[in-house]
Amino acid sequence: MNSLSEMPSMADPRQALKPNQHSSEDTIARRERMRKQRDSLPIASVRGRLVEEVKAHDVLIIVGETGSGKTTQLPQFLFDAGFCHDGRVIGITQPRRVAAVTVAKRVAEECNVQLGQRVGYSIRFDDSTSSSTRIKFMTDGLLLREALLDPYLSRYSVIIVDEAHERTVHTDVLLGLLKSVLNARSKSVGGCVNADSKKGNFGIVRKNESGTQSVGFLKQCQGMKFPPLKLVIMSASLDARIFSKYFGGARAVHIEGRQHPVDTLYTLHPQRDYLEATLVTIFQIHLEETPGDILVFLTGQEEIESVERAVKEQVYSLPESSQMIVTVPIFSSLPSEQQMQAFKPAPAGYRKVILATNIAETSVTIPGIKYVVDPGFVKARSYDPLKGMESLVIIPTSKAQALQRSGRAGREGPGKCFRLYPEREFEKLEDSTKPEIKRCNLSNIILQLKALGVDDIIGFDFLEKPSRAAIIKSLEQLFLLGALTDDCKLSDPIGRQMAQLPLDPIYSKALILASQFNCLEEMLITVAMLSVESIFYTPREKSEEAKTAMKCFTSPDGDHLTLINVYRAADELLEKRNRELIGKNETNFQRKTDKILRKWCKENFINSRSLRHAHDVHSQIRGHIEQMGLHVSSCGEDKLQFGRCLAASFFLNAALKQPEGAYRALASGQIVQIHPSSVLFKSKAECIIFNELVQTNQKYIRNVTRIDYLWLTELAPHYYAMQS
Ligand code: CDP
Ligand code: MG
Repeated sequence: MNSLSEMPSMADPRQALKPNQHSSEDTIARRERMRKQRDSLPIASVRGRLVEEVKAHDVLIIVGETGSGKTTQLPQFLFDAGFCHDGRVIGITQPRRVAAVTVAKRVAEECNVQLGQRVGYSIRFDDSTSSSTRIKFMTDGLLLREALLDPYLSRYSVIIVDEAHERTVHTDVLLGLLKSVLNARSKSVGGCVNADSKKGNFGIVRKNESGTQSVGFLKQCQGMKFPPLKLVIMSASLDARIFSKYFGGARAVHIEGRQHPVDTLYTLHPQRDYLEATLVTIFQIHLEETPGDILVFLTGQEEIESVERAVKEQVYSLPESSQMIVTVPIFSSLPSEQQMQAFKPAPAGYRKVILATNIAETSVTIPGIKYVVDPGFVKARSYDPLKGMESLVIIPTSKAQALQRSGRAGREGPGKCFRLYPEREFEKLEDSTKPEIKRCNLSNIILQLKALGVDDIIGFDFLEKPSRAAIIKSLEQLFLLGALTDDCKLSDPIGRQMAQLPLDPIYSKALILASQFNCLEEMLITVAMLSVESIFYTPREKSEEAKTAMKCFTSPDGDHLTLINVYRAADELLEKRNRELIGKNETNFQRKTDKILRKWCKENFINSRSLRHAHDVHSQIRGHIEQMGLHVSSCGEDKLQFGRCLAASFFLNAALKQPEGAYRALASGQIVQIHPSSVLFKSKAECIIFNELVQTNQKYIRNVTRIDYLWLTELAPHYYAMQS
C-alpha cells in the first residue's frame, strides 16, 4: 500500500495524490496487485492466440473494448515472444500525447524497468527513449516525421497503430505510408536500400529486366535485406471493415470485453450553460450517490481549468463532512509529471473528480470510475476548403463517442452516466465522427508527404480521400508560402526547411522569415506561446483584477508582443531568483524556482502550466532552428521590424476593419470579430493579422496584431496588389 490512504490536509488535498516513497514491502504488495490486475484483463486469456495471429499475418486488426488491455499488454506479449530479438523495436502509435506518455509510464512500471530504458516514449517536444528502448510509444505524427529520416522504418519489427478508430489525419496518412512500407519491405528480401537522403529520394528498388520498379511511392532495389514488417491496427470501435478492406482483406480479430450495466440519465431540457450544469451535476452526484469516482468530459484546457477552480471554490460552502472531494485534470498539454495524477487512487474517504478532454473516451483508461458526466460536446477542427480557413469549433459528440463515454462508467461495476442533454437530442447525433482528414487544412500533411517523395497527392492511396477542393486549396497555400515550386515540387531550401520543423507550415515559414527580418528571437517566443492553450485566465468573479494585472504586459500593437512581454517577464524573474538562490547556496533549487514562478503566475492571472509548456516548446524549437543553421537574434526595441515580419508571415490571415466595427478576412472574405480576450478588442486598428479562428455563436479571431496595410502589398506582392 502506498500512503495515499492517509488523510490529507484540506488545504491541499491534491498533495495526497502525490506518490510517496514506497518501502520495499509496499513495492512488493504493489507489484503483486499489478500482476493480479494484469492477469485479470480480458486480453490475458487470449495472449497465446494473439501472438500466433501476429506471427501468421503481416497485417492484423484487433478490435477490443476500451480497457481490455490492448495498449498496455500487446507490446509486452510481442516483446516476450521475441519480436525484438534482433534489436529492432516495437513501435506503438497513439493519436494523443497524453496517451503515449501515461501508457509508457505504466508499461515501464509493469515491466519493472526505468522509463526511457526498455520502455520509452517519444512525442513532439519530449523524448524519453534511449538506444536500449525496445517498446516505444509515440504519437502517430511523430512516426510520420521519423519516416522522413528512415523511410522504410527499418528500426521497427512491429508497428502497432493504436486507436485507429479516432481517424486523426496523421493516423490516416500513416496507414497509407505503412501500406507502401509493408509492400516494399516484404519484397525487399534480396533488395537494398537506395538512400539518397540529401534529395529525400529514398527508395528500395528491385532490379528486374525492365530496370527499377516502384512499390507505392517507395522504390525497390537489390542489395541490403530487410526483415518484413508486421503491422497491427488496434481499434475500440466495432467497424474494422474499412481497415481490413484497405489492407486487401486483412485479418481482424475481436477481444471480448467485460462491461457492467450503465444507467444512462438525461436532462429534461437542453442546458444553456453546460459548464454550470456540469458543476451542479458533479455536486449532485457527490452529495447523493454512493462512493465512486466521477469522470467529466469537457472540450479543452480552458474549460477544465475553469470547472476545476469552481469546484474548489464551491466545496467550501458544503458542510465539513461533505468536503471530501478532489479534482484532477487530464488534457494533452498537461506537463507529463501531472498527467499521472489522474491514475492515482483518491485518498481514503475522498471522491476523485477527473476533468478530462475526449482523451478519456478510449485513449486512456482510468480505474475507479463509477459516474460519467457528459455535457455532449467536443472541440474539433473544421475546414472550409473554398475559403481556405480552418477553425476550432465546439460541436456535439457523435453517438459512438457518447456511447464510449458512458461505457467508462461500467468497467469495474454497474455505473451511471449523466448526459446533460435531453434524450431526444441523442437520437439526432451523427452516428460517428467524420474523419479528421475530411475536415482539416491539409497543408501540413501535404508538406510532409512531399518531403517523403510523394509528388502526386491527389493520386496518393488514402484510406479515405480528402476532397479535391481541400487538397488544391492546401497546395495553393503551400505555394503562396513559398514551400512549393511552380511545378508543385518541394522548394529548396524553403520548402525543405519548413518540412523539417515540427510545426504548422505557416509557423515554420514565420521562423525562416524572422531570421531574415532579424527578429528570430521574438518569433521563437511567439510561436512557442501560440503553440499552447490560454496563457491568460480570467476567473469570472475577478475579471477586473485580472484586467489590471494584464495591463503591465499589454502592448498597444497587439497580442503577439503582449505574449512576448509575458514570456520575458517570467524569464527575467527566474533569472533574478536563480542568482539570489545561487548566492544563498540553496538546495531544492528546482522546487523553489517552480514555486516562485507559480506564485508570480497566480498574482498575474497567468496560467503557469501553459507558460511552462511554452518554455519547453521554445527550447525544442530553438534546437531545431540552430541545427538548421538559422541565426537567432533580436530586433531589440525595433518593434516595427517585428510587426513587418508578422505581416510577411501571416499575410494569409490579414483582415480589414469594416464600417460597423467587425473585420473582413481578406483571403476568405469572412466577417469576423476580435475575440474579447485580445488586447485589441474594441481597438480601432484598421488592418490586422491573426492566428486563430474560433467559432462559437460568432466567428472570433484570436492572437491579433495591428499592421500597416501597405506592408501587405510590399511584403506579399505575389498575393496582394494595390487597386488602381
Ligand atoms: O488499450 P485498452 O483500452 O484495451 O486498455 P489499456 O489501456 O491497456 O488498459 C488496461 C488496464 O490498465 C486498464 O484496466 C487500466 O485501468 C490500467 N491502466 C492503469 O491502471 N494505469 C495506466 N496508466 C494505464 C492503464
Ligand atoms: Mg488503448
